Amino acid sequence: MARRLSTVAAAYQIAFAKVEKQTLSVLLNNVERRIPAAYVWDHKRHSTSPKTAPSLAPLIRWDPTQVTVNWSTGDQSEISAEWLAKHFAIPEKQSQRFPGSNGKIHWGSDYFSKIPTFDFQTLLKNDQHLLDLFDQLESHGILLVSGAKAESGQLRLLDARFGWLRYTINHAGYSNLMNVKTVENPTTLANTGRRLHLHVDFPFVTYTTSFRCLHCIQQVPRPRAGAGWYCDGFAVADHLRKEDPRAFDILSSYPIEFADSAQREHVQFSTKSWHPMLKLDEDKKQVEGVYISNHAQSSRYLARLKPSLFEWYAAYYQYTRLLHDPRFVIEVKLEPGQILVFENTRVLHGRPEFEARKGEVRHLESICFDRDAVYAKKRALLAKKAA
Ligand SMILES: [Fe+2]
Repeated sequence: MARRLSTVAAAYQIAFAKVEKQTLSVLLNNVERRIPAAYVWDHKRHSTSPKTAPSLAPLIRWDPTQVTVNWSTGDQSEISAEWLAKHFAIPEKQSQRFPGSNGKIHWGSDYFSKIPTFDFQTLLKNDQHLLDLFDQLESHGILLVSGAKAESGQLRLLDARFGWLRYTINHAGYSNLMNVKTVENPTTLANTGRRLHLHVDFPFVTYTTSFRCLHCIQQVPRPRAGAGWYCDGFAVADHLRKEDPRAFDILSSYPIEFADSAQREHVQFSTKSWHPMLKLDEDKKQVEGVYISNHAQSSRYLARLKPSLFEWYAAYYQYTRLLHDPRFVIEVKLEPGQILVFENTRVLHGRPEFEARKGEVRHLESICFDRDAVYAKKRALLAKKAA
């Protein structure tokens, strides 16, 4: 660690420093940084009071590695070149705030045979295996885990490894472990064998869950029956942007409404949320989230959009047609004991229709977890590794 700090210090040099009008000016690597006294006081953590900062005395000491300033309270602050570099010289865009979040690799249907498989038991005890999984999730948004027992509750073992699980709502109730199971009297579409168009889950809440795990406990034995479709929504959005920039513009500019509700004895809710179908990052360059769900989209709000309904629907169908294009969709049939992990607002999921025959059961268990949990865990593991 000490060696790394000295590398940073050598890379950044202070050539001049002065205090004037309660502003500290520092020439760092030939770029002048003008820093208000309040910022220095606040960030050097002399005080937790947000009300005021004392005055900076004009007398300071500096050398190429450090500036020492004096405060009217008698305190001193030492400001190193590396601290200045960390706070001022390194541009920080949204995509750079999170460890390993700027290397998205788009994929199409040929990625099916390349999806990497991680080992469930190794994930429970080996930090590097877990870090590799987080990297794969960040770059491609999809991966497989094998070696879990084909029994209920296995996903809960990942709770502490993935940070913390997310509670979600569905028509069966509030839980951090959900079941997708073909049953005789289903209350949700998920528990039938009907076709599901490619969609994301939980678009009807403001903070949509980031990642999902599907653990296969029981599977329909017939070929293809019970398989799922998966598609890289970012890759398709990129394709749309090149093919029809106007359609891309419409889908990324106007929020639409999503809603869901239940009124049962054990679960009552009425959710509403608004997202553009293609949500862009703060630089308005990259798509950072896809919000699409034909069973949760509310048509009421659409009529208030600025572009005409004709234009909006033309753009919408162009995107959904591309999503279902064989060039972009992969079909994965999970075997008992396998887990599919994917980024919910990037990798859209659905399934072809299958006949739910008597005596045959398709049973998946599912957990959700958020980006914050993954990054929190990842930062901690990286710090442990570097120590
Ligand atoms: Fe779903």
